[in-house]
Amino acid sequence: MNKFPKRVTIEMTNDCNLSCIMCPRHFMKDTVGYIKYDLWCELIDECKGESVTLLPFWRGESLLHPQFGELIDYALGRVKAVQFATNGTFINEENVSLLSKFDFISISIHNEAAVNKLDLLLKHLHKDKPEIQASFVESEKSCELIDAVLEKVDRVRIYKMHTNNGVYGKSNVELSRQESCAKLMNDIVIACDGTVSRCCYLWETNKSLSVVSSSIYDVWNGTHYREIRRSYPDALCERCDQWGGETLGKTIEKTRVN
Ligand SMILES: C[S@@+](CC[C@H](N)C(=O)[O-])C[C@H]1O[C@@H](n2cnc3c(N)ncnc32)[C@H](O)[C@@H]1O
Ligand code: SF4
Ligand code: SF4
Repeated sequence: MNKFPKRVTIEMTNDCNLSCIMCPRHFMKDTVGYIKYDLWCELIDECKGESVTLLPFWRGESLLHPQFGELIDYALGRVKAVQFATNGTFINEENVSLLSKFDFISISIHNEAAVNKLDLLLKHLHKDKPEIQASFVESEKSCELIDAVLEKVDRVRIYKMHTNNGVYGKSNVELSRQESCAKLMNDIVIACDGTVSRCCYLWETNKSLSVVSSSIYDVWNGTHYREIRRSYPDALCERCDQWGGETLGKTIEKTRVN
């Protein structure tokens, strides 16, 4: 087991400008908020030197954060890599050069406007970095836009719905369960208020686990996390159908035509 998580999700905000029909946000009970700059910097400082991949998003649209640029500026150079997902709405001429410093961007094509934002992003990129994925959820009407983006990006991903009407564990795929889940060994998910979820698929955080009064290291190695790993699968992991470590779905690789 890693003494520090390899991948650290830090949610900038759980607020969003869109209201995608399949999104579990509609059922989220947590208060909508934005991460404070000081908490962000403390968390990034802790990641420094730990060879961490940062995922600066979770249950909302991070580009809504008014200090997005400052937060990212602080993180770049202190973490090993940045992997980002966005609905694209707020990509503009001002922030696109910052985005081009990321290692991976998944742009979720929820509507036609996102295709234009993808074009803007592509116009400003270096040849090989960041890797660009266009993502769809298979129930989305926007899947009709797959052909329109196929030759522009490095990869198209069509996710199965992991949550349907707020109910988790709904991809209906039969897999044989493994002895443990890679997410419990590699990933920590921190909400914008500092509370922690064991996994990006569980949209309510555990309110007794927080990195505000404790460190990432202490939460990750603490009694509660050790018990989750020891008793795997407990009631929350039991209903999961994503334990293969990958969101189930279809991937079309190397689609970009240069
Ligand atoms: C929750 S969003 C957060 C980032 C940003 N707002 C976006 O849409 O990319 C992250 C990803 O989850 C996907 N998603 C939303 N609801 C889902 C569901 N029920 N099942 C599977 N993936 C879902 C979105 O399409 C998006 O690609
Ligand atoms: S999928 Fe992303 S853009 Fe759509 S409502 Fe959820 S968080 Fe917002
Ligand atoms: S089993 Fe499922 S819910 Fe549990 S940590 Fe793994 S992916 Fe998350």
